[in-house]
Formats: sequence, structure tokens, C-alpha cells
Amino acid sequence: MTWQLRRATPADLDAIMGIETSVFVSDAWSRASMASELASVHGHYLVAFRPETPGTIDAYAGLHAPQGSPDAEIQTIAVAEHARRHGLGRVLMLQLIAEARRRGATEMFLEVRADNPPAQTLYLDLGFERIAVRPGYYQPDGVDAWVMRLALEEPRTTVAAGPAEEREASGHEAPEASGASGASGASAEQDGGRA
Ligand SMILES: CC(C)(COP(=O)(O)OP(=O)(O)OC[C@H]1O[C@@H](n2cnc3c(N)ncnc32)[C@H](O)[C@@H]1OP(=O)(O)O)[C@@H](O)C(=O)NCCC(=O)NCCS
Repeated sequence: MTWQLRRATPADLDAIMGIETSVFVSDAWSRASMASELASVHGHYLVAFRPETPGTIDAYAGLHAPQGSPDAEIQTIAVAEHARRHGLGRVLMLQLIAEARRRGATEMFLEVRADNPPAQTLYLDLGFERIAVRPGYYQPDGVDAWVMRLALEEPRTTVAAGPAEEREASGHEAPEASGASGASGASAEQDGGRA
């Protein structure tokens, strides 16, 4: 399967919320929070779609990275269930990491539920390290959060070159400089990061 990535716009809110509420059943962000994220000048949200169905979003991810700030945060990432294990999550993350670097960040952080091994495996594979645990951070479930960090000074992952948007993500292949794969993510405020 092949996807393309593009920058999310406020017009993607309905499609993003459709995935959000089906994936994050107990702790979905509110529509207002997501709308605020998509509009934030400090954010960078990407969506993935199949070329043959450009009106259908299969994944999204978001970064919070104020220009010039040394810290960036992966705020969220979600891939619709039918589109998982095809490399989409990885290319979305790689594009967000690349965007954080472009904005001058030297460190990237995220939070992930302690009961979410798939996401943890993805982040560890990308070079993130667990630096802290926040007990009971996720409510109402009372699940701990892992706080994870990636140093950006020295690239630890191969990031596709060229424009950040309109790249293709295909199969399990690692993103190459050819631009054969790509994607990226977003950020949130009162709801807190979860990715
Ligand atoms: C986590 C998530 C974004 C991964 O997306 P994805 O497109 O399926 O991930 P990829 O296909 O790019 O997988 C990349 C790597 O992540 C790891 N991974 C992904 N899903 C995994 C799973 N179910 N079990 C174990 N490892 C997994 C693997 O290391 C995988 O590499 P591999 O396929 O070469 O083994 C997706 O499962 C998802 O949307 N989950 C629900 C929402 C969520 O938990 N978001 C994160 C909040 S912190």
C-alpha cells in the first residue's frame, strides 16, 4: 500500500477527529483542542492519504516546536487500524523529527502510555530513550506515562531529503533520500501530549 503525506489544514478536522475518537477511546482530545492544534503557529501536523482516495485520511501526527526553541514535542500520532504495520507511523515520526530539526530544536520529547508497547517499540526503534515515568498521568484510566527523549544534535535516523510534504510512504521500507517514504506530526495543549 502507498500513501502520500501533506500538511494538515483546519479542513481536515472532521477526518482527524474520526480517527481520534476511534483510536483513543477513553482519552480522545476534544474537537476544540484538536482545532486549536491545527491552527497553532508552533505546530506542524501531517496527514496521510492514499493517492486514489485523497479525501480519506488514514493517519495523522503532530509536532509542537516553537521556532528557535531547543525543545520540541511529539504531541500525537495515530494510524487507522486498517493501515497499521505498513511503515506509516515510522515515516510520520521521521518527518516530524526532521521538521523539529529545521526549527532549531536540539531535543525532542514525547509521552506514551505504559500499556502501549506498539508505540513504545516504534519510539525506541527511532532512538528515543525513556527518561522518566509519570505515575497515573493518563486519566481516567490511571495509567502511567513514559517520558521519552531523543537528542537531535546528531542524527540517529535517516530522514528523507527534500520537501516535507507530498511524500509517499510505502510498505515497510525505511525512508530513503530518494523521498520514497515520508510523513510527520502535531501538538496539543490542555489535553497534554500522548505521543
Ligand atoms: C503506534 C502506531 C502509530 C504505529 O503505527 P504503524 O503505522 O502501525 O507503525 P509502523 O508500521 O511504521 O511500524 C514501525 C515500527 O513500530 C513498531 N511497531 C508498530 N506496531 C507494533 C506492534 N503492534 N507491535 C510491536 N511493534 C510495533 C515496530 O518496531 C515497527 O517496525 P517493523 O514493522 O519493522 O517491525 C499505531 O499502532 C497506532 O496508531 N496506534 C494507536 C495510537 C497510538 O497508540 N498512538 C501513539 C500514542 S503515544
